[in-house]
Amino acid sequence: MPTHSTYIIANWKMNLDVATSAQAAGELASRLRSVPAGKSVVVCPSFLAFSRVATTLHGSAVGLGAQDCYWEQKGAFTGEVSPADLVQQGCTHVIIGHSERRSHLGETEEQVHRKLEAALASGLTPILCVGENYDARSEGQKDNVLIRQLSSALQGISLDSSAQLIVAYEPVWAISTGPGSVGIEATPEEVTYAGEVIRHVLVDLVGRDRFVTNVRLIYGGSVTAATVGNFTHLPNIAGVLVGSASLKPVDFLAVIAAA
Ligand code: PGA
Repeated sequence: MPTHSTYIIANWKMNLDVATSAQAAGELASRLRSVPAGKSVVVCPSFLAFSRVATTLHGSAVGLGAQDCYWEQKGAFTGEVSPADLVQQGCTHVIIGHSERRSHLGETEEQVHRKLEAALASGLTPILCVGENYDARSEGQKDNVLIRQLSSALQGISLDSSAQLIVAYEPVWAISTGPGSVGIEATPEEVTYAGEVIRHVLVDLVGRDRFVTNVRLIYGGSVTAATVGNFTHLPNIAGVLVGSASLKPVDFLAVIAAA
């Protein structure tokens, strides 16, 4: 996938059953026989739907991502899914540290770090989600949260030349559904500002050259076809992570067209 692409990544969460996921993937694959130049489209289905969606997308212009992975490749880890298995299924991307996992499942920063490391070691492109909740925003702690989440996720990790990393700025308060949502949308100015904070931290952590060639920043939180252009036109934002507006192919195709 060319690194200069605009990413449009669908996070279906636990919203679609297996049959609906396969149907949606089939519709996207046939409607997007070729994804418009300069755009990269990835869908992240649930694990149960994963192999059906993988088969449906095989050979299409739509990429396959996972919503999570474990940090070991094999063994006695009940209920977990290994990065190596994901790769075998044709998966190229994996969401790591989504705020819903951090809040509902108590996923810790240490676990996010281990998952990120394992995903990179398997050749997957992690989509590392970072972002402050509403309280942190109100208390003026946004920058500190971003610095802490990024530093702990990337501690000791040096990106090698083939590693790709996507960092998704997802302010918890701007996600359309879920416990942290407060029904306000992020403005392009806020996203630009957070993107700058993230850029500075990442340049420190991985080095300027690696940052420029191997890291992309995207935005997520209530993105729709009507708003996507506000974010994809920002100079420091290279795409979007889309939840609710990715669930119906017609809506997601509209987001892709408008991105
Ligand atoms: P949303 O979800 O687009 O429904 O706000 C985005 C996400 O949680 O990744």
